[in-house]
Amino acid sequence: MGFKEQIDYNRLPKHIAVIMDGNGRWAKGRGEVRVFGHEQGVLSVKDIVEGCVEIGIQYLTLYAFSTENWNRPKEEVDALMQILISTINKETETLNKNNIKLNAIGNIASLPQECIDDLKEAMAKTAHNEKCTLTLALSYSAKWEILEAAKKIASAVKDNAISIDDINEDLFSSKLTTVNIPDPELMIRTSGEHRISNYLLWQMAYTEFYFTDVLWPDFRREDLFEAIVDYQKRERRFGKISEQLN
Ligand code: IPE
Ligand code: IPE
Ligand code: MG
Repeated sequence: MGFKEQIDYNRLPKHIAVIMDGNGRWAKGRGEVRVFGHEQGVLSVKDIVEGCVEIGIQYLTLYAFSTENWNRPKEEVDALMQILISTINKETETLNKNNIKLNAIGNIASLPQECIDDLKEAMAKTAHNEKCTLTLALSYSAKWEILEAAKKIASAVKDNAISIDDINEDLFSSKLTTVNIPDPELMIRTSGEHRISNYLLWQMAYTEFYFTDVLWPDFRREDLFEAIVDYQKRERRFGKISEQLN
């Protein structure tokens, strides 16, 4: 039996977050340049997005470029931006065909202007779609996001728009870039690295983590289904004891 047949559709995660890692090592292992790994990684993105739509995942968030990734060699950063631009432009139609809404989180203003423009256009063109929300984390870091939220709240207090007692989890969540997106139940990281790398720190307070050694360009929907089956075997206790859960 394949992993898809083992999925319990009544207990699907609503939101899956992914750290797509291992493109560089995948390419190096084949004697290719790192950028080749990023290009091949796009095929995995397409397959995973389709896989999510196939089984009914409502939110998929992909870590595509971190704030820290700006520190990579300029050629690699430039290539990543070009891949981003060409992928967005090529895939907008497919997103519409599959009823997928494109969204972006992160410091979007820090991206090259062409990237910002194409991203905005693709988001506008897919804004009416409602089967799945595909969020790209671009120039994203969770610490940046949390600091931005703290600044917004501080100025609202300063302007007397809210009082300090109004600050609670809901208010804080509403100031994050993930506003209107539920917290992920499952986070998948490929390539054997066991760390969060500044991803969704607030949102993943109770997320189940799934780590696989598969490198991102080799990751396909069957691997996604395997991760979901693994997730569904877990008991999520949220601080309670087993006997309290029904
Ligand atoms: C993930 O693959 C893609 C990005 C971070 C943009 P990497 O480029 O990090 O690949 P490795 O980890 O060096 O193999
Ligand atoms: C995390 O991967 C960021 C993305 C996948 C976009 P990295 O490969 O940059 O993470 P570290 O630096 O190894 O933790
Ligand atoms: Mg990496």
